[in-house]
Amino acid sequence: MKILVTGANRGIGLEFCRQLLAQEFGLQSLVATVRDPSKATELQTLASSSQNRLHIVALDLATDDNARTNAAGLIDRIKASGLSAGPLSFDGIINNAGIYLDEGDSISSFDFDVFRKSFEINTLGAFKVLKALDSTLARGARILQITSLMGSLSDNRSGGSYAYRSSKAALNMMNLCYAQERKDVTSVVIHPGWVQTDMGGRNAQLAPEESVAQMLRVFRNLKPSHSGRFFNYDGSELPW
Ligand SMILES: NC(=O)c1ccc[n+]([C@@H]2O[C@H](COP(=O)([O-])OP(=O)(O)OC[C@H]3O[C@@H](n4cnc5c(N)ncnc54)[C@H](OP(=O)(O)O)[C@@H]3O)[C@@H](O)[C@H]2O)c1
Repeated sequence: MKILVTGANRGIGLEFCRQLLAQEFGLQSLVATVRDPSKATELQTLASSSQNRLHIVALDLATDDNARTNAAGLIDRIKASGLSAGPLSFDGIINNAGIYLDEGDSISSFDFDVFRKSFEINTLGAFKVLKALDSTLARGARILQITSLMGSLSDNRSGGSYAYRSSKAALNMMNLCYAQERKDVTSVVIHPGWVQTDMGGRNAQLAPEESVAQMLRVFRNLKPSHSGRFFNYDGSELPW
């Protein structure tokens, strides 16, 4: 199995890499994308004990903003990482990279640049990766798009965080469009829970280990009938 994880330098993305390498996944290769490989010291340590299975590849979703250039560039960089000399083929993508810049913001503090940037990373960023790798996805490939319950329209009872909420709601819709188009792959949006990372903070309910272990259980059990749906980290379904 060949899997790609974005935003793998820290937090939930790094924990996905740890567990994918440690678990019995039949993992042949793991591509971990980070903004700056030279600073990804924890991943480098993981790579050194991965029996050449972990490949660290540069991907900044904010600067690689031309979809076509990005597609060509990402595939070239993956090949240059030593993953594969022949045609690339992925069995899984975990679109995890994300930003939360407007916690607690209200209409008075609403910042249009923050709104644009949030969409650029959280929504378009995930789709730059999918567009780049669409042709490399094997039949039956599985995709986890890491969204947030904050992107749920029906769960929004406290408002605020206009940019983050909207960017994740748009990600949810785009995933549903993709699931309708690519019937031969299974692509879902999944909320990781409130997780102790730089984004989630120390008071969050879940350790990354717990959140990721449960999300990987969902990943393992994904079936075609799940495609386009919105899951919680524990596998229960969430309201749109
Ligand atoms: N933690 C929570 O409670 C929680 C709850 C709901 C949803 N989520 C979602 O879970 C995902 C992971 O969150 P996290 O808690 O692990 O956050 P985190 O600790 O803040 O890590 C975010 C990751 O995204 C990467 N990233 C940020 N901007 C990027 C860019 N321009 N290009 C490429 N990568 C970029 C970061 O790279 P650098 O290390 O280089 O900055 C980092 O690896 C996000 O999509 C988030 O929205 C988290």
